[in-house]
Amino acid sequence: MTLSGVDSADAFDRILDSVRQLPSPPMICMAVAEATQSDLTTLSLLQRLIESDIALSGRVVQVANSAFFGIAETVTSVRRAITLLGFATVRRLALAFFYNEEFGRIELPGLPYPQLPQYALASSVLAETIAELIEPEFTADYATLGLLHESGVIVMAMAFGSQYRQFLQSFQGSQQPFWQGESETFGINHALAGQLLLSRWKLPAPFTHAVAAHHDPELAEVADPLARRFWRVLTLAHTGALLFLGQCQADVFVLASELARRHLNWTAQRLGEVLEMAEPICRERTIMLGTPTDQAVGTLTGGGWTGKIRAASAACK
Ligand SMILES: [Fe+2]
Repeated sequence: MTLSGVDSADAFDRILDSVRQLPSPPMICMAVAEATQSDLTTLSLLQRLIESDIALSGRVVQVANSAFFGIAETVTSVRRAITLLGFATVRRLALAFFYNEEFGRIELPGLPYPQLPQYALASSVLAETIAELIEPEFTADYATLGLLHESGVIVMAMAFGSQYRQFLQSFQGSQQPFWQGESETFGINHALAGQLLLSRWKLPAPFTHAVAAHHDPELAEVADPLARRFWRVLTLAHTGALLFLGQCQADVFVLASELARRHLNWTAQRLGEVLEMAEPICRERTIMLGTPTDQAVGTLTGGGWTGKIRAASAACK
């Protein structure tokens, strides 16, 4: 029996039920994401795919018409929107569209992840930026990984309802890692719940293993080599993303620079340079893909990353 009074076997059943109930796998979004990575995909094929989903079609056209792109003409067709946006932007749009539509509306006061959709987007951008420098062939995979890695939080919220919300409230200010608190209370945590969800969505095993281990290095150690490669970038990306969203405490800087040193052999200065590269991209994407509100953009705190990391590291020595 766990602290919440939920039997462990019952907890697992509840998680599986929630995984089954969550919106059908984002087939259209995943299909678009896959198609945009293939050299064989033609404009007509991508157009047909997007047009099979009315909401996504509307969003693609809407984004093409947004002030962000500054296009003089009025875009009225999916085909023209794809041409103007390009395949890479359409891929990001499809995944972020799903994430925001399904997960962005759920409010979970007390959740230690600041504004889940923004945090997911920041993790995605940072993972993508890191990948471009070290493993460009996996750039799209890393972007997806960053975006979806906290999906298990929604599974937990669905599975345990008011008990999970009460847990979030009571856990605020705790010194214990959040995921460990979940495990003690419910017998399962959001990282493992996320693995179950993404497995159901048929994402590849190395990908889902990296999600399962995103707070647990011991779990990463027993994963296969590709999962460990995914994991080391994800763990740095989701830690660094906190810095973009107002969590600029010295301990987060130090943890991020330690992860960069250990997993990528990067100095604190190199990490600072990468954060400098990623931040404007994150701002752009927040406007383009996320909720284009002043509040969302205003939460991105940045600039001078190299100096901040150096200062934080020095202060902790
Ligand atoms: Fe997490």
